[in-house]
Amino acid sequence: MDAIRNAVANDFDAVNQLIIDELHSDVGLVESIGHYIVDAGGKRMRPILVLLSAMAHGYQGKQHIELAAVIEFIHTATLLHDDVVDISSLRRGRPTANAEWGNAPSVLVGDFIYSRAFQLLVRIGHMDIMQLTANTTNRIAEGEVLQLEMAGKPDTTESTYHQIIERKTAILFEAATRGGAILANSSEPECIRAGAYGHHLGMAFQLIDDVLDYRGDAATMGKNLGDDLAEGKPTLPLIFTMREGSQQQRDLVTHAISNKTAENLDQILTAVNETGALDYTEQQAIEHQSLALAALSELPANNYRTQMERLAVLAVKRDH
Ligand code: IPE
Ligand code: IPE
Ligand code: MG
Ligand code: MG
Repeated sequence: MDAIRNAVANDFDAVNQLIIDELHSDVGLVESIGHYIVDAGGKRMRPILVLLSAMAHGYQGKQHIELAAVIEFIHTATLLHDDVVDISSLRRGRPTANAEWGNAPSVLVGDFIYSRAFQLLVRIGHMDIMQLTANTTNRIAEGEVLQLEMAGKPDTTESTYHQIIERKTAILFEAATRGGAILANSSEPECIRAGAYGHHLGMAFQLIDDVLDYRGDAATMGKNLGDDLAEGKPTLPLIFTMREGSQQQRDLVTHAISNKTAENLDQILTAVNETGALDYTEQQAIEHQSLALAALSELPANNYRTQMERLAVLAVKRDH
């Protein structure tokens, strides 16, 4: 990640500075919670993608810095809301904002960060970018609601699962890379290819996230294992196990999802490993990685493109 970041080092520093400047509020709690989650870091993959995509498409202005901050703000706001909805207690290696301050402040500061993103967008003043981000934010909300609707439902199909991760995660990666290409005044086919790269990267990223929830290490991830299970989330590793596992394994997973309980986490970890459910999920991530790489093939060969290729590889290889 460091090497990738170095390709856009100066702009990346400018993005981080802008993020901090734009968190400013004269309401103390807004600043406290805002800084709490922003200062904890995170991988900053999405803003890096905006910068890389803009540069790979030959952009010469400075608005990619603002767009990168906008995309990271939208991401940050979704995380504040997501941890309330998921009742999560660990994020970026720290207690979540909801664990520290409670649900109401987290939701409201999430709203502040969303609306700050929209203020920044108006400053960019680019109608296509506004349309892209408005549609994207709306789709993310839909994805989260769809996921909520499916929680506790063991009969959720693989196709519904794909719709959920497309909306809750891939769409923001897509907006990051398409947005970079739009800023650079790229042609419509170029913007579509840039968006396709982000889409497939985002799908791979979330598929691996769903693997890590069963295979990862909490200390490395900075998030707790088994959170998905406790929420009754029918992610692909579980959908596969209910389809291909033994009767006992099916019953085990069905019971956990229906009752939204992680009480049998250890047995379920064994089941998702033994049935090959984690390998199956990882395999789908690898397919999306290939499609992401293919979408880059017509870009000029330069360091920005190389780093975008490396990001696609990292999305699958990552352990946090
Ligand atoms: C977390 O995203 C939410 C998902 C889409 C899985 P990241 O893993 O990019 O979170 P940070 O920003 O690095 O903490
Ligand atoms: C994150 O979803 C996606 C959004 C925040 C929209 P998850 O709930 O799967 O991600 P983590 O595991 O909490 O980061
Ligand atoms: Mg969550
Ligand atoms: Mg969630």
